[in-house]
Amino acid sequence: MKAQEWIEGLPEQFVVYEITSISPSAYKGIVFTGMGGSGIVGDVLKLFLEKDGVAVPVISLRGYELPPYVREGWLLVAISYSGNTEETLSVAEEGIERGLKVVCVSSGGKLREIAQREGLDFVAVPSNYAPRYAFGFMLSAVMSLFGKKDPIERIRKHLEESKGEIKETAYRIAQVIQNYIPIVYGTPLTEPIAFRWKTQINENSKTLCYTATLPELHHNEVVGLDNPITRNLCHFIMLWDPEDHPRVKRRVQITEELFKELGLAPIVLQGKGATLEERLLYLAYLEDWVSFYLAEFYGYDPLPVKVIDRIKEALNE
Ligand code: PA5
Repeated sequence: MKAQEWIEGLPEQFVVYEITSISPSAYKGIVFTGMGGSGIVGDVLKLFLEKDGVAVPVISLRGYELPPYVREGWLLVAISYSGNTEETLSVAEEGIERGLKVVCVSSGGKLREIAQREGLDFVAVPSNYAPRYAFGFMLSAVMSLFGKKDPIERIRKHLEESKGEIKETAYRIAQVIQNYIPIVYGTPLTEPIAFRWKTQINENSKTLCYTATLPELHHNEVVGLDNPITRNLCHFIMLWDPEDHPRVKRRVQITEELFKELGLAPIVLQGKGATLEERLLYLAYLEDWVSFYLAEFYGYDPLPVKVIDRIKEALNE
Protein backbone atom coordinates (compact mmCIF):
# COMPACT_ATOMS: atom_id res chain seq x y z
CA MET A 1 0.00 0.00 0.00
CA LYS A 2 1.39 3.39 -1.10
CA ALA A 3 0.51 5.26 2.12
CA GLN A 4 2.30 2.72 4.30
CA GLU A 5 5.39 2.85 2.08
CA TRP A 6 5.46 6.65 2.32
CA ILE A 7 5.00 6.68 6.09
CA GLU A 8 7.75 4.05 6.46
CA GLY A 9 10.01 6.33 4.41
CA LEU A 10 9.37 9.57 6.34
CA PRO A 11 12.75 9.57 8.17
CA GLU A 12 14.60 9.45 4.82
CA GLN A 13 12.73 12.58 3.71
CA PHE A 14 14.84 14.60 6.15
CA VAL A 15 17.62 15.62 3.80
CA VAL A 16 19.54 18.89 3.62
CA TYR A 17 18.77 20.95 0.51
CA GLU A 18 21.91 22.60 -0.81
CA ILE A 19 20.43 26.06 -1.24
CA THR A 20 21.58 29.51 -0.20
CA SER A 21 20.24 30.16 3.26
CA ILE A 22 18.27 33.20 4.33
CA SER A 23 18.83 35.28 7.46
CA PRO A 24 15.48 36.21 9.07
CA SER A 25 16.94 39.47 10.38
CA ALA A 26 17.46 40.68 6.80
CA TYR A 27 13.65 41.15 6.61
CA LYS A 28 11.04 43.22 8.42
CA GLY A 29 8.95 40.11 8.89
CA ILE A 30 8.33 36.62 7.53
CA VAL A 31 5.09 35.14 6.19
CA PHE A 32 4.67 31.45 5.48
CA THR A 33 1.63 30.58 3.42
CA GLY A 34 0.17 27.20 2.52
CA MET A 35 -2.90 25.04 3.11
CA GLY A 36 -3.46 21.58 4.58
CA GLY A 37 -0.46 19.27 4.32
CA SER A 38 1.66 22.19 3.08
CA GLY A 39 0.33 24.75 5.59
CA ILE A 40 1.61 22.74 8.55
CA VAL A 41 5.19 23.35 7.37
CA GLY A 42 4.80 27.09 8.00
CA ASP A 43 3.33 26.48 11.46
CA VAL A 44 6.28 24.31 12.46
CA LEU A 45 8.89 26.71 11.02
CA LYS A 46 7.29 29.65 12.81
CA LEU A 47 7.62 27.75 16.08
CA PHE A 48 11.24 26.73 15.38
CA LEU A 49 12.26 30.29 14.42
CA GLU A 50 10.58 31.76 17.48
CA LYS A 51 12.29 29.19 19.70
CA ASP A 52 15.59 30.24 18.08
CA GLY A 53 14.81 33.82 19.16
CA VAL A 54 13.94 35.34 15.77
CA ALA A 55 13.79 39.13 16.16
CA VAL A 56 11.12 39.89 13.53
CA PRO A 57 7.43 38.93 13.38
CA VAL A 58 6.62 35.55 11.84
CA ILE A 59 3.16 34.65 10.53
CA SER A 60 1.80 31.36 9.25
CA LEU A 61 -1.05 32.27 6.95
CA ARG A 62 -3.92 30.18 5.59
CA GLY A 63 -6.24 31.87 3.15
CA TYR A 64 -6.32 34.14 0.11
CA GLU A 65 -5.02 37.50 1.36
CA LEU A 66 -2.01 39.03 3.04
CA PRO A 67 -2.68 41.21 6.09
CA PRO A 68 -2.39 44.96 5.34
CA TYR A 69 0.79 45.46 7.39
CA VAL A 70 2.81 43.03 5.25
CA ARG A 71 4.72 45.32 2.90
CA GLU A 72 7.95 45.67 0.97
CA GLY A 73 10.85 44.43 3.08
CA TRP A 74 9.00 41.28 4.22
CA LEU A 75 9.80 37.75 3.10
CA LEU A 76 7.03 35.46 1.81
CA VAL A 77 7.57 31.70 1.64
CA ALA A 78 4.77 30.14 -0.43
CA ILE A 79 4.47 26.38 0.09
CA SER A 80 2.18 24.17 -1.98
CA TYR A 81 3.09 20.56 -2.62
CA SER A 82 1.08 20.37 -5.86
CA GLY A 83 1.81 23.99 -6.71
CA ASN A 84 -1.85 24.42 -7.66
CA THR A 85 -3.63 25.42 -4.45
CA GLU A 86 -5.61 28.55 -5.23
CA GLU A 87 -5.32 30.21 -1.82
CA THR A 88 -1.50 29.86 -1.88
CA LEU A 89 -1.27 31.09 -5.49
CA SER A 90 -3.42 34.11 -4.59
CA VAL A 91 -1.11 35.07 -1.68
CA ALA A 92 2.00 34.52 -3.84
CA GLU A 93 0.63 36.86 -6.54
CA GLU A 94 -0.29 39.45 -3.93
CA GLY A 95 3.20 39.22 -2.40
CA ILE A 96 4.75 39.83 -5.83
CA GLU A 97 2.48 42.87 -6.39
CA ARG A 98 3.45 44.33 -3.00
CA GLY A 99 7.16 43.95 -3.76
CA LEU A 100 7.93 41.27 -1.16
CA LYS A 101 10.85 38.88 -1.50
CA VAL A 102 8.99 35.67 -2.51
CA VAL A 103 10.38 32.13 -2.31
CA CYS A 104 8.26 29.27 -3.67
CA VAL A 105 8.39 25.64 -2.55
CA SER A 106 6.54 22.96 -4.53
CA SER A 107 6.89 19.84 -6.63
CA GLY A 108 5.79 21.79 -9.72
CA GLY A 109 2.41 23.16 -10.86
CA LYS A 110 1.41 26.80 -11.26
CA LEU A 111 3.59 27.93 -8.37
CA ARG A 112 6.67 26.84 -10.29
CA GLU A 113 5.35 28.65 -13.38
CA ILE A 114 4.91 31.84 -11.33
CA ALA A 115 8.46 31.48 -9.97
CA GLN A 116 9.83 31.03 -13.49
CA ARG A 117 7.78 33.95 -14.86
CA GLU A 118 8.92 36.32 -12.10
CA GLY A 119 12.46 34.97 -11.66
CA LEU A 120 11.76 34.02 -8.02
CA ASP A 121 13.78 31.64 -5.87
CA PHE A 122 12.21 28.20 -6.22
CA VAL A 123 12.87 25.08 -4.15
CA ALA A 124 11.71 21.86 -5.84
CA VAL A 125 10.63 18.91 -3.69
CA PRO A 126 10.24 15.38 -5.13
CA SER A 127 7.00 14.81 -7.09
CA ASN A 128 4.44 11.96 -7.12
CA TYR A 129 3.59 11.97 -3.41
CA ALA A 130 0.28 12.98 -1.83
CA PRO A 131 0.94 16.36 -0.13
CA ARG A 132 0.61 15.22 3.49
CA TYR A 133 3.04 12.35 2.91
CA ALA A 134 5.72 14.78 1.66
CA PHE A 135 5.82 16.64 4.99
CA GLY A 136 9.47 15.69 5.63
CA PHE A 137 10.61 16.90 2.20
CA MET A 138 8.82 20.23 2.52
CA LEU A 139 9.92 20.77 6.13
CA SER A 140 13.55 19.96 5.22
CA ALA A 141 13.40 22.33 2.24
CA VAL A 142 12.18 25.22 4.38
CA MET A 143 14.50 24.39 7.30
CA SER A 144 17.41 24.39 4.81
CA LEU A 145 16.24 27.78 3.56
CA PHE A 146 16.71 29.14 7.08
CA GLY A 147 20.07 27.39 7.55
CA LYS A 148 18.72 24.82 10.05
CA LYS A 149 20.77 22.02 8.55
CA ASP A 150 22.09 20.21 11.67
CA PRO A 151 18.58 19.69 13.10
CA ILE A 152 17.53 18.04 9.81
CA GLU A 153 20.27 15.41 10.14
CA ARG A 154 19.45 14.88 13.81
CA ILE A 155 15.72 14.44 13.10
CA ARG A 156 16.44 11.88 10.39
CA LYS A 157 18.67 9.79 12.65
CA HIS A 158 16.29 10.10 15.59
CA LEU A 159 13.23 9.00 13.60
CA GLU A 160 15.13 6.09 12.06
CA GLU A 161 16.23 4.89 15.51
CA SER A 162 12.80 5.42 17.10
CA LYS A 163 10.66 3.96 14.30
CA GLY A 164 10.10 0.51 15.84
CA GLU A 165 9.06 1.89 19.21
CA ILE A 166 6.90 4.59 17.58
CA LYS A 167 4.99 1.99 15.56
CA GLU A 168 4.31 -0.15 18.63
CA THR A 169 3.10 2.83 20.67
CA ALA A 170 0.98 4.07 17.76
CA TYR A 171 -0.72 0.69 17.38
CA ARG A 172 -1.68 0.65 21.06
CA ILE A 173 -2.99 4.23 20.92
CA ALA A 174 -5.06 3.47 17.81
CA GLN A 175 -6.58 0.45 19.60
CA VAL A 176 -7.55 2.63 22.57
CA ILE A 177 -9.04 5.54 20.62
CA GLN A 178 -10.91 3.59 17.94
CA ASN A 179 -14.68 4.05 18.13
CA TYR A 180 -14.23 7.41 19.89
CA ILE A 181 -13.88 10.94 18.54
CA PRO A 182 -10.24 11.81 19.28
CA ILE A 183 -9.70 15.18 20.94
CA VAL A 184 -6.06 16.25 20.83
CA TYR A 185 -4.93 18.89 23.30
CA GLY A 186 -1.70 20.79 22.67
CA THR A 187 0.39 23.43 24.42
CA PRO A 188 2.05 26.51 22.93
CA LEU A 189 5.00 24.29 21.92
CA THR A 190 3.03 21.29 20.68
CA GLU A 191 0.11 23.16 19.08
CA PRO A 192 1.15 22.66 15.42
CA ILE A 193 1.71 18.96 16.05
CA ALA A 194 -1.65 18.60 17.83
CA PHE A 195 -3.18 20.21 14.73
CA ARG A 196 -1.25 17.77 12.52
CA TRP A 197 -2.71 14.89 14.61
CA LYS A 198 -6.17 16.26 13.86
CA THR A 199 -5.61 16.68 10.13
CA GLN A 200 -3.91 13.32 9.68
CA ILE A 201 -6.68 11.53 11.58
CA ASN A 202 -9.22 13.42 9.41
CA GLU A 203 -7.51 12.57 6.13
CA ASN A 204 -5.88 9.17 6.73
CA SER A 205 -8.47 7.65 9.08
CA LYS A 206 -11.50 9.46 7.55
CA THR A 207 -12.53 10.35 11.09
CA LEU A 208 -13.62 13.51 12.84
CA CYS A 209 -11.04 14.80 15.30
CA TYR A 210 -10.73 18.10 17.16
CA THR A 211 -7.99 20.02 18.85
CA ALA A 212 -7.63 22.71 21.50
CA THR A 213 -4.63 24.34 23.17
CA LEU A 214 -3.54 25.12 26.72
CA PRO A 215 -3.79 27.58 28.40
CA GLU A 216 -6.81 28.78 26.36
CA LEU A 217 -8.70 25.50 26.80
CA HIS A 218 -8.74 26.11 30.57
CA HIS A 219 -10.97 29.10 29.89
CA ASN A 220 -13.75 27.32 27.92
CA GLU A 221 -13.23 23.73 26.63
CA VAL A 222 -13.02 22.23 30.15
CA VAL A 223 -16.56 23.36 30.92
CA GLY A 224 -17.73 21.24 27.97
CA LEU A 225 -16.51 18.19 29.88
CA ASP A 226 -19.44 18.58 32.29
CA ASN A 227 -21.81 16.81 29.91
CA PRO A 228 -21.23 13.01 30.18
CA ILE A 229 -23.32 12.27 27.09
CA THR A 230 -20.93 14.13 24.77
CA ARG A 231 -17.66 13.63 26.69
CA ASN A 232 -18.12 9.86 26.66
CA LEU A 233 -18.12 9.92 22.85
CA CYS A 234 -14.55 11.25 22.94
CA HIS A 235 -11.08 9.99 23.81
CA PHE A 236 -8.57 12.60 24.93
CA ILE A 237 -4.91 12.89 24.02
CA MET A 238 -2.65 15.58 25.50
CA LEU A 239 0.69 16.54 23.94
CA TRP A 240 3.17 18.63 25.91
CA ASP A 241 6.86 19.41 25.91
CA PRO A 242 9.37 19.70 28.80
CA GLU A 243 10.33 23.16 27.48
CA ASP A 244 6.77 24.46 27.83
CA HIS A 245 6.24 27.39 30.24
CA PRO A 246 6.21 26.13 33.89
CA ARG A 247 2.62 27.33 34.37
CA VAL A 248 1.58 25.45 31.23
CA LYS A 249 3.17 22.29 32.65
CA ARG A 250 1.23 22.82 35.88
CA ARG A 251 -1.91 23.16 33.79
CA VAL A 252 -1.14 19.81 32.10
CA GLN A 253 -1.08 18.19 35.58
CA ILE A 254 -4.33 19.90 36.60
CA THR A 255 -6.00 18.73 33.38
CA GLU A 256 -4.93 15.15 34.14
CA GLU A 257 -6.41 15.46 37.64
CA LEU A 258 -9.68 16.80 36.22
CA PHE A 259 -9.90 13.88 33.84
CA LYS A 260 -9.25 11.37 36.62
CA GLU A 261 -12.06 12.87 38.70
CA LEU A 262 -14.37 12.33 35.72
CA GLY A 263 -13.26 8.70 35.42
CA LEU A 264 -11.52 9.38 32.10
CA ALA A 265 -8.03 8.18 31.17
CA PRO A 266 -6.40 10.67 28.81
CA ILE A 267 -3.33 9.63 26.84
CA VAL A 268 -0.65 12.10 27.94
CA LEU A 269 2.39 12.22 25.70
CA GLN A 270 5.64 14.08 25.42
CA GLY A 271 7.94 13.48 22.48
CA LYS A 272 11.22 11.67 23.03
CA GLY A 273 14.45 13.34 21.96
CA ALA A 274 17.23 15.66 23.06
CA THR A 275 15.96 18.76 21.25
CA LEU A 276 12.57 20.38 20.71
CA GLU A 277 12.84 19.63 16.98
CA GLU A 278 13.44 15.92 17.64
CA ARG A 279 10.64 15.69 20.19
CA LEU A 280 8.07 17.41 17.96
CA LEU A 281 8.94 15.29 14.95
CA TYR A 282 8.76 12.19 17.17
CA LEU A 283 5.16 13.15 18.07
CA ALA A 284 4.39 13.91 14.41
CA TYR A 285 5.70 10.53 13.27
CA LEU A 286 3.75 8.82 16.06
CA GLU A 287 0.61 10.51 14.71
CA ASP A 288 1.31 9.31 11.15
CA TRP A 289 1.25 5.75 12.42
CA VAL A 290 -1.73 6.27 14.75
CA SER A 291 -3.79 7.61 11.84
CA PHE A 292 -2.57 4.78 9.62
CA TYR A 293 -3.53 2.02 12.10
CA LEU A 294 -6.84 3.73 12.82
CA ALA A 295 -7.61 3.68 9.08
CA GLU A 296 -6.73 -0.01 9.02
CA PHE A 297 -9.05 -0.78 11.97
CA TYR A 298 -11.92 1.11 10.31
CA GLY A 299 -11.22 -0.56 6.95
CA TYR A 300 -10.22 2.61 5.04
CA ASP A 301 -7.45 3.16 2.53
CA PRO A 302 -5.55 6.10 4.10
CA LEU A 303 -4.59 7.59 0.73
CA PRO A 304 -7.68 8.92 -1.10
CA VAL A 305 -9.18 12.24 -0.03
CA LYS A 306 -12.11 12.20 -2.45
CA VAL A 307 -14.05 15.06 -0.91
CA ILE A 308 -11.03 17.40 -1.05
CA ASP A 309 -10.58 16.52 -4.74
CA ARG A 310 -14.31 17.09 -5.35
CA ILE A 311 -14.23 20.55 -3.75
CA LYS A 312 -11.12 21.53 -5.76
CA GLU A 313 -12.85 20.37 -8.99
CA ALA A 314 -16.03 22.31 -8.14
CA LEU A 315 -13.95 25.46 -7.57
CA ASN A 316 -12.28 24.99 -10.96
CA GLU A 317 -15.56 24.73 -12.89
O1 PA5 B 1 -3.35 16.50 2.35
C1 PA5 B 1 -3.88 17.05 1.40
O2 PA5 B 1 -4.03 16.51 0.29
C2 PA5 B 1 -4.35 18.48 1.54
O3 PA5 B 1 -4.38 18.86 2.88
C3 PA5 B 1 -3.44 19.40 0.73
O4 PA5 B 1 -2.18 19.51 1.32
C4 PA5 B 1 -4.10 20.76 0.58
O5 PA5 B 1 -5.33 20.64 -0.11
C5 PA5 B 1 -3.21 21.76 -0.15
O6 PA5 B 1 -2.67 21.21 -1.32
P1 PA5 B 1 -1.12 21.42 -1.61
O7 PA5 B 1 -0.40 20.83 -0.45
O8 PA5 B 1 -0.85 20.70 -2.88
O9 PA5 B 1 -0.92 22.90 -1.72
